[in-house]
Amino acid sequence: MDQVKYTGQLMHIEDAGLRRLSQETVKKLIQHSQEAKKQAYCPYSKFRVGAALLTVDNCLFTGCNVENASYNLGVCAERNAISKAVSEGYCAFKAIAIASDLCDQFISPCGGCRQFMREFGSSWDVYLSKPDGAYTKMTVSQLLPVSFGPEDLAMKKVLDMPDVC
Ligand code: THU
Repeated sequence: MDQVKYTGQLMHIEDAGLRRLSQETVKKLIQHSQEAKKQAYCPYSKFRVGAALLTVDNCLFTGCNVENASYNLGVCAERNAISKAVSEGYCAFKAIAIASDLCDQFISPCGGCRQFMREFGSSWDVYLSKPDGAYTKMTVSQLLPVSFGPEDLAMKKVLDMPDVC
């Protein structure tokens, strides 16, 4: 019989607020994103990114970028963290913190990641950080205004496509 070892460990962050995070929680979230950055697999770009995602029930999921020799298959840190959460049954989020090695700039999520975040709502917070822990906060809708989301698929259309088969 094969031994199956589950190494995934559910992490929590203590946070009282529903929407607004305490300063302490923001700091912890950024620290977790910096820790996650250390796992980055980025032999091609040499650009490390880490993300730490906080669910509405204060569970924490982290992710790093994972590149591939077939370049277009690489996955960003943010998408990795979100996919980990969703695959464990969590899809309501308070905030995500992102870390990179850029000295003088806040890391800015790519367009694909903004759309990926938007799938799970427009009004949650994204903390863009620098390695020294400085950050700026933006909502998903500030990062991706006039967005397309799941609700749009259900809107009235001029043509209703018939079901095939
Ligand atoms: N990257 C992320 O992980 N998140 C972003 O939002 C920006 C870019 C990664 C993708 C790739 O592995 C590396 O950074 C360089 O683009």
